[in-house]
Order: sequence, then C-alpha cells, then structure tokens
Amino acid sequence: LKCIGVLTSGGDAPGMNAALRAVTRKAIYHGIRVKAIYRGYKGLISGEIKEFQTQDVSNIVQQGGTIIKSARSMEFKTDEGMQTAYETLKREEIDALVVIGGDGTFTGARIFGQIYNDIPIVGIPGTIDNDLYGTDYTIGYDTALNTIVEAVDKIRDTASSHERLFFIEVMGRDAGFLALHGAIASGAEAAIIPEISTSMDQLTQLIEQGFRKSKNSSIVLVAESDITGGAMGVAEKLKKAHPEFDCRVTILGHIQRGGSPTANDRILASRMGTAAIDALLADQRNVMIGIVNDEIVYVPFVKAIKDEKPVNSALMEVLHILSI
Ligand code: F6P
Repeated sequence: LKCIGVLTSGGDAPGMNAALRAVTRKAIYHGIRVKAIYRGYKGLISGEIKEFQTQDVSNIVQQGGTIIKSARSMEFKTDEGMQTAYETLKREEIDALVVIGGDGTFTGARIFGQIYNDIPIVGIPGTIDNDLYGTDYTIGYDTALNTIVEAVDKIRDTASSHERLFFIEVMGRDAGFLALHGAIASGAEAAIIPEISTSMDQLTQLIEQGFRKSKNSSIVLVAESDITGGAMGVAEKLKKAHPEFDCRVTILGHIQRGGSPTANDRILASRMGTAAIDALLADQRNVMIGIVNDEIVYVPFVKAIKDEKPVNSALMEVLHILSI
C-alpha cells in the first residue's frame, strides 16, 4: 500500500474534518502517501485531487463541515462515471480508497468495489442520522443531538411564555435516533418517530398530561419522514381533532448539520480515521469501520446499508414515564 485516496461524500457531518485529519496523519505515519479527492465522487470523476501533507490537516479537528467539500454525484451512479473514476485512480496511482459518508456513499463504494476489485475501499460512517447498521454511533450524530437540545431549550422559553404547544421537526432521513434521544435530553413530552407508531389518541393524552402538569407548554419532537408526516403533518392532524391547542411548528433544518464537533465526535472520528488505515493495512476491503461497545469492528458495506439499525424501544418508555 503506497498511496491512498480519501473523500467525503453525501450530507456533511461535524467531525468529518477530524476523520480526514486522522486518516491523513495515520497514513503518513505508516509511510503511505495521501491524496485528498475534492467534492466526493464528483471530484473522483473530474480529477480534483491534491496530495496532502500532515500540515494540510492542521487546525481542522475543531471545524464543522468538510474542508475537502462534499457532493451527491449522479454521474457516479452510471457505468461511464465509474469507469472515469477508475481511470482517475489509476492515473493518480491511488491504490486504495477511504470514503467518509453515509448510506449513499457506501452504496456507491459497494458497487464500485465489486466492479473494480483491485481497489480496496474502507468506509468511515459520517452522518448526523446515526442510521448505519453495525456501529453504535456515527460521526456527527452527537454534535447534531447537542445542537437540537440547545435549540429546543430556547424554544421552550417562548413556548412557556405563550403557553403553546410546539412541534419541532428534526432531521434523520428515515431514522428516529435524533428525535427520540433529543426528546429525552430536552425533556419533551413525546417523540414521533418512523420506527414506533404513536396514535393520535396517545399523542393527545401525552400532550394533555404535559399541559395539566405544567399548565403552560408542551414540546413534541417529530422525525422528518414520510411515515411520520413531519412536524407540519402531525400538527395539522392534531389541530383538526383539538382546535383548542395553540400550536406552532419549528423545522430545525440544516442548523443540525453545522457547528464545531463535540469532544465525543472528535474522539470517534480520530479513532475511526486511524482504524480505517489499520483496516487497509490488514487487507480489509468493502467494509465500514464501526464501533460497538467501545471496540472497533469491520462491517461489510452491504450489511451497514441494508440491515435496519433498531432504535432502543425501551427509551420510548423512559420518555413517556418521565413526561408524567
Ligand atoms: O443524511 C443527512 C441529512 O441531513 C438527513 O438528515 C436529511 O434528510 C438530508 O441529509 C438532507 O439532505 P440535503 O442537505 O441534501 O437536503
């Protein structure tokens, strides 16, 4: 192994820079050259590549976003796109790839790795959604969770002044980790998530209980998803049945993707980044680096993407008990 390529792809996540730094420095430590590929698979196709030295990743461990940019490439989904990407790798003498991203990134890597099997690929889970199977946490999730809690704390101030009910929509694509964990951490009355259904009756009961208790405000976190209908969808349904509630909707949006990574995300990214190079040195290929019970594990891409990562349903009970 003489030279590796590294890229970030898909939705960015706080801690991607810390992972890039770890990959770069660990590779250089082992005498391996590092080429940073800009704009994910897009840059692999167009050849936007720069060789990195250890100082190229100085002062980024604390920065949100990704200094090598990210993109979602449609072209990489085509045979021609993949062929061009492969030619770039050969021309640049890159003999292995580290890809930092989520579901879409690993789907691309899995297909590419099957066709061009002389290029081993190792993935690092970088997504705020925490929705990859085979790892307890993904890079960026902890930071996003903390951003959500900070935002909900602020909304609670105005909610209680006006004695209102707030539906707050959080990201997560099709997963409810951010909503469920964010609800517990911010003391919300309920979390509406795609994995566990909540009936309108149940929701009404939880909200009424909340109002009875504090007599002023209520907060419900809703995971974005077609299944939940999002915060707008849930609020509309509730308003029809209970026009007496003074409801407001807040969609937190992309604020959840930004900001300086938490200490936990920096540590996770540093461990996973170094582990990715160890994996390549141990001849691993087409696997994602995971962390389970504080131990590094290798998860085949196909499992990480396809297997559904379950939310801990006991946490829903914790939330409900604590909201009485
Ligand atoms: O996967 C990260 C994520 O932020 C999801 O939570 C969200 O559904 C999606 O990306 C939004 O993507 P975009 O920034 O392309 O609108």
